[in-house]
Amino acid sequence: EGGTPVSDMRFFPEKCMLPRFYLANVDKIKKFECRSDDVWIVTYPKCGTTWTQEMVWMMKNQYDFKMSHEVNAFYRVPFLEYHSLQNPNKPMNEMAKICATDLLKNRPSPRVIKSHLTVSLLPSQLWTVRPKIIYVYRNPKDVAVSFYHHFQLLENYTGTQEEFVNAFLEGKVLYGSFWGNVLPFWELRHEPNVLFITFEDLKKDLKAVTSKVANFIDAKIPQDVEDCFYDHLSFGSMAKNPGVNFESIINNERLKNKKHMRFIRKGETGAWKESLTSEQIRAFDEWSKKAIAGTDFPYYY
Ligand code: A3P
Repeated sequence: EGGTPVSDMRFFPEKCMLPRFYLANVDKIKKFECRSDDVWIVTYPKCGTTWTQEMVWMMKNQYDFKMSHEVNAFYRVPFLEYHSLQNPNKPMNEMAKICATDLLKNRPSPRVIKSHLTVSLLPSQLWTVRPKIIYVYRNPKDVAVSFYHHFQLLENYTGTQEEFVNAFLEGKVLYGSFWGNVLPFWELRHEPNVLFITFEDLKKDLKAVTSKVANFIDAKIPQDVEDCFYDHLSFGSMAKNPGVNFESIINNERLKNKKHMRFIRKGETGAWKESLTSEQIRAFDEWSKKAIAGTDFPYYY
């Protein structure tokens, strides 16, 4: 319903696991009022969401390095289908259970908004008001490994990596089917309000992708901030920035045995080669080939 230009239902024949908060707010999300100067970062989890949202937030907020360090990204870039921080200094367990859609109503423009929802579940106005949407893809093998660590760090996951990978391939992890999220946005990549970028390109040439993003959202990167800005977006700086790691807003009790784990963790491409077995790699390749058959999706996976 609502004029979504492609259908993604062929990828979701069964049930799909989504945040509980989404289910309580399906209607509010679908009918969310977009503004033409919003910038949306849409991804499957672990594809480089935080990296891209940091880039865009800085461009839209006068390169405010201080605020980026002091105010958590969770507050600066509301997470559409999740509850949001009303007060950026409170830990997550004390977070007001306010839907991000309510928080966003009172946010001044330009807003930067994050979502992991698949295209048909996103607000209908994305395709009438047409705010800019940046979609970020990442090799699913790296995504699965990163997602497994994320689940251990933030969701108290105690299963094995093998169990996690199997669930990922079956689309039985949070947000369901990886290809079901990616391919509909791939089909939409020529829409004037969509920019499709990849984690791999960000790694290969951060400056080139950043310029592409700047052009797309009509932002300028002033010469006097350029060097600091690229440094700010480097893995080393992001890993040290309390504003993009979750430690400060997750209650410490929850993380007390996980001090060695980090949200901004490894930041590499191809690290799956060290973590996946040859059998798992074969399973991934077959799974990807089957999903992209009949499409013109070009990336090596
Ligand atoms: P790894 O777990 O492989 O290290 P998301 O923000 O979508 O959850 O994605 C998180 C992934 O992006 C993590 O991957 C994280 O380390 C990586 N990442 C975040 N900032 C990065 C940066 N500046 N450079 C490289 N990777 C980055």
